[in-house]
Amino acid sequence: MRRYARITGTGSYLPPRRLTNHDLAAELAQRGIETSDEWIVERTGIRARHFAAPEAASSDLALEAARNALEAAGRQPQDIDLIIVATSTPDMVFPSTACILQNKLGANGCAAFDVQAVCSGFVYALTVADAMIQSGAASRALVVGAEVFSRILDFNDRTTCVLFGDGAGAVVLEASEEPGILASDLHADGKHVGILCVPGNVYGGQVLGDPLLKMDGQAVFKLAVGVLEKAARATLDKAGLADSDIDWLIPHQANIRIMQSTARKLGLSMDKVVVTVDQHGNTSAASIPLALDHGVRSGQVRPGQTVLLEGVGGGFTWGAVLLKM
Ligand code: UT7
Repeated sequence: MRRYARITGTGSYLPPRRLTNHDLAAELAQRGIETSDEWIVERTGIRARHFAAPEAASSDLALEAARNALEAAGRQPQDIDLIIVATSTPDMVFPSTACILQNKLGANGCAAFDVQAVCSGFVYALTVADAMIQSGAASRALVVGAEVFSRILDFNDRTTCVLFGDGAGAVVLEASEEPGILASDLHADGKHVGILCVPGNVYGGQVLGDPLLKMDGQAVFKLAVGVLEKAARATLDKAGLADSDIDWLIPHQANIRIMQSTARKLGLSMDKVVVTVDQHGNTSAASIPLALDHGVRSGQVRPGQTVLLEGVGGGFTWGAVLLKM
């Protein structure tokens, strides 16, 4: 009998400070940077985002999301034998945010490591956890996406600083005889490193190069709409399913126009797409588990349904995971 990895609980967390587009535009105006609610909504679908307090790190957001997911799964931290955190805004250069989270949770002793695939991080992390569970290397994993992207935004660059937010989402993934994750499909193309990056690095006690986010938005947009359809089809093919078998599409929440394009290409109406970009902005690796938890807790995403998760972002990386809830 096949050993599957199945999601048994979801959780998420948003830091309390919420800024609408109007709030952010007013703050940026004080720096002489001009933007508007109209521009942001029309180009991206974003209406608000959350920013973490200066003292809150990714592991703090991850901790709240992880506790919510464990509670939903009816599990204790000690039940977990693997923790994977997807993040591009780790607490430290090292050790991993997963190790820091493990200690905060009190799950000491289990395997713990980070995955760095920027906005595709959660689908990468889920695929790794699935493979470890299928192979028997782990039985009960906590997979988290957590980001404090507000730390790496250039608030003098209106083309990027209005797009991102902070947050965390988590799932408990357990070995099961019941179908859970059905198939996944991951890719990267490193020749596009420069179109979305934070080029700075720590060197001899100083930051060498620019430590703030740089993005060629149009280049990212064009690549994203092409690869997301391919990843969706490849994943469906691997599972022997068709577009019409998808109950919910939960794409990376970066821009409503990219999500609409993907849904259109798959012949799905927007009623079948979980949308949180309007309230969360782009939370990078946290966006998919945040949207999944929103879908579950709002009663949209129900047990037994077929869900397609899709990530895309810096690297350039992209991928999809098809699963039964
Ligand atoms: O998480 C990883 C995935 N990331 C993404 O998926 C991002 C993908 N890219 C995008 O979502 C879009 O390319 C953006 C939202 C970033 C930009 O939208 P766009 O429709 O491609 O706009 P644009 O870059 O072509 O800019 C259009 C105009 C420019 O003015 P001019 O040159 O036409 O006079 C910009 O200067 O909009 C201007 N602009 C702004 N105006 C007001 C750029 N940012 C702003 C702003 N407020 N915040």
